Amino acid sequence: MADLSKTAIDAAVAAALAAFAAAGSNAELKAARLAHAGDKSPLALANRAIGELPGPQRKEAGQRIGHARDEVRRALAAREAEVGAAELARRLDAERVDVTLPVSFAPPGAPHPISALIDLVSEVFVSMGWEIAEGPELEAEWLNFDALNITQDHPARATTDTLFVEPLDSHLLLRTHTSPVQIRTLLERPLPVYIVCPGKTYRADEFDATHVPVFHQLEGLVVDKGISLAHLKGTLDHFAKAMFGDVRTRLRPHYFPFTEPSGEVDLECFVCHGASVGDPEHPCRTCKSEGWIEWGGCGVVNPRVLKACGVDSEVYSGFAFGMGLERTLMFRNNAADMRDFVEGDVRFSRSLTGTAR
Ligand code: PHE
Repeated sequence: MADLSKTAIDAAVAAALAAFAAAGSNAELKAARLAHAGDKSPLALANRAIGELPGPQRKEAGQRIGHARDEVRRALAAREAEVGAAELARRLDAERVDVTLPVSFAPPGAPHPISALIDLVSEVFVSMGWEIAEGPELEAEWLNFDALNITQDHPARATTDTLFVEPLDSHLLLRTHTSPVQIRTLLERPLPVYIVCPGKTYRADEFDATHVPVFHQLEGLVVDKGISLAHLKGTLDHFAKAMFGDVRTRLRPHYFPFTEPSGEVDLECFVCHGASVGDPEHPCRTCKSEGWIEWGGCGVVNPRVLKACGVDSEVYSGFAFGMGLERTLMFRNNAADMRDFVEGDVRFSRSLTGTAR
């Protein structure tokens, strides 16, 4: 039978109050409530045992236990209010929402790899003190060809290669290279000039893995006193290292009407490093076992071009170069298919620019 003595009841109350005070969370307080104010708590059991007492003792025991249970209930309610308030304050603090933060409604895109490359290339040259030049994509035929010493009968001027714009007697075309910016620069800027021009170029090409009709070139032009082929080679070496790390370049004789002498600049094959040359057992697909891959064209500015722009070729000389930016990115980032550059899949852009998401 339950102990209904004053000592036992006082002890049960004291234990209940201590447990409530010690409970620091709603969960702990719930456990304390079940133990000290629940159906199976000592006071509940004592309450149920009152009826078994001899008549005269019942009233006193009933009052004592009734008061004890009231006291426990009041203490519990007070503690519940305290713990609940503290818990709410903690949650409000932890789950605070900054309603002033901007919300993004559209999934973020990524810079196009060509734009990112143009930024990078521009930085390489601007940090050497060069300037960025621009010219229109819809260009005068004279600037795209004649001023560059490309004669009327040159095959590049055929409508099969060049996109002329109607009416044909407007003599406008979509520039086939960034070289007309050489002419624009020499006509517009005071000497000396040190410029690069990144931009879009157009050719009546097929659309396949290695050709797109709209692509990008980087033109470089220097005209100053005492400029030689050695400056060209040094500049290309520096640029190649900035693009591809520790790689060698070589100049191979070539022909361009606007440079003399002219060359093509090759990069040492970064797959086989020349090891495949003369080794039919281990062919290299990247350089076709030639040890070098073509990067762009270059040369010493033809004095005829300088003259056409009113520059005294006895006093000034210069060099120029031009290369494809898609090609540069394909070498740099192992992109295999030029179509990826124009199809606009943001996952391609992210994979090349390292943009997250
Ligand atoms: N414009 C040439 C091309 O598109 C490249 C080039 C630029 C060559 C400058 C020499 C000097 O092929």
